[in-house]
Amino acid sequence: MRKIENLQLNEQGQLQHFLSIEGLNKSTLTEILDTAESFASISSQDVKKVPLLRGKTIVNLFFENSTRTRATFELAAARLSADILSMSIATSSTSKGESLLDTIHNIEAMQVDMFVVRHSLSGAAHFIAQHVAPHVSVINAGDGQHEHPTQAMLDMFTIRRAKQQFTGLRVAIVGDILHSRVARSQIQALNILGAEEVRVIAPKTLLPTDVESLGVTVYYDMQSGLKDVDVVIMLRLQKERMSSALLPSESEYFKCYGLSEDKLRLAHKDAIVMHPGPINRGVEISSKVADGPQSVILQQVNNGIAVRMAVLSMTMQHRKEHG
Ligand code: NCD
Repeated sequence: MRKIENLQLNEQGQLQHFLSIEGLNKSTLTEILDTAESFASISSQDVKKVPLLRGKTIVNLFFENSTRTRATFELAAARLSADILSMSIATSSTSKGESLLDTIHNIEAMQVDMFVVRHSLSGAAHFIAQHVAPHVSVINAGDGQHEHPTQAMLDMFTIRRAKQQFTGLRVAIVGDILHSRVARSQIQALNILGAEEVRVIAPKTLLPTDVESLGVTVYYDMQSGLKDVDVVIMLRLQKERMSSALLPSESEYFKCYGLSEDKLRLAHKDAIVMHPGPINRGVEISSKVADGPQSVILQQVNNGIAVRMAVLSMTMQHRKEHG
């Protein structure tokens, strides 16, 4: 079996699939951000379309719920003039590789060019990429607790727009790191792009045991963890992924780890506040902060379209140059 890092890139080093941040280098990540920048202006034009992927067929295959991710992939495909078919497929946790592959091969028989996949199992997109025809690209839209690379890239895009560069930046990621595929992708992207320091702030019960090996500094309280940071990324408590009671109560959690205006004052005075959504107001973030002047949460959503346009067009590109 080819390893993830080899599977994502073709022989020329171009993106063929987009499965994880792990295995990619700074120049590929920067190319995604620069390409997204060139697409961002299209979204504000009167005619929000370019013919880049005309005639291509993209299938959104969502085995897990989604609002923002699915909608922005649909809009990204539409703005590139591709045809997109969105499918929500309910699945039980006992669903095995075989039935997943049957689904894929049936849709593949309809001459599609790309799959955008969200699945509750870690490694699902990677598995699919190993089994599709060589001309088909696979994009990971979130696999279990593993990675959510397009979310991380839209977050990097949002950070770069606000702060211009990654050098010297201190970033704190707060909350349910343990269950978060978003955090795993963000940590890797921030380190690859050269952030000064990536901190995680969480109670012990919401941190993976080997978290330091991801390249972060661990803090167990907001008072010390938020001091002097330039970017605060809040995460949702992923209750659906918690098998046992890992927390005392929501109000207790908010008191210790929720982002209030008071706690935000510990960060740099022009720090930005981010959240991948969906937000739980009053649980991990107060409404005043979520809707306040330092929040870029809705910009993240909008940036998701340009970044997904970049990833769709770059992965489709590998074929043109390959013949
Ligand atoms: C995240 C996800 O699905 O991983 N949301 C998203 O894609 N915007 C995070 C979450 O569910 O909390």
